[in-house]
Amino acid sequence: MKLTDLLMGEHAAFRALLDEIEKMSSFAGEVARIESAMTVLTTEVKSHAALEEKLLFPALEPHVETDELFAEMCTDHEQIRFGLERIENARHLNEALEAVGQTLGIVRRHFKNEEQNLYTLAEEVLDDETLIQLGEAWATAHSVKRG
Ligand SMILES: [Fe+2]
Ligand SMILES: [Fe+2]
Repeated sequence: MKLTDLLMGEHAAFRALLDEIEKMSSFAGEVARIESAMTVLTTEVKSHAALEEKLLFPALEPHVETDELFAEMCTDHEQIRFGLERIENARHLNEALEAVGQTLGIVRRHFKNEEQNLYTLAEEVLDDETLIQLGEAWATAHSVKRG
């Protein structure tokens, strides 16, 4: 599978998870369920961003004239990591949910931006074979991580 399709699939799963957390928190759902959903979100989003930086950015770099887009994406990633850490370090559920609320907007905007600019660019400048090879590297990284 192409790396861009894999990353887009993850975005879809993260969006569903964000919706679920939002919904659960709005009607004060079960704390344990909200917490486990937040744990999945923080772990998976961090790994998603790390693999974009490790696999996609270096593959695209030779094809672009400026680093502007990468710089923007890295700034987003830093903000998202900071937000996710706030969620992880929150001492109370309310504090965690407030951090979710703030981080959510950044995450949604970032996903849209990547889908419209970064992934589109990748599909334009990288051939299918390269994208599939990158997808295999992505799958290996995931299976190593999960053991
Ligand atoms: Fe990203
Ligand atoms: Fe992404």
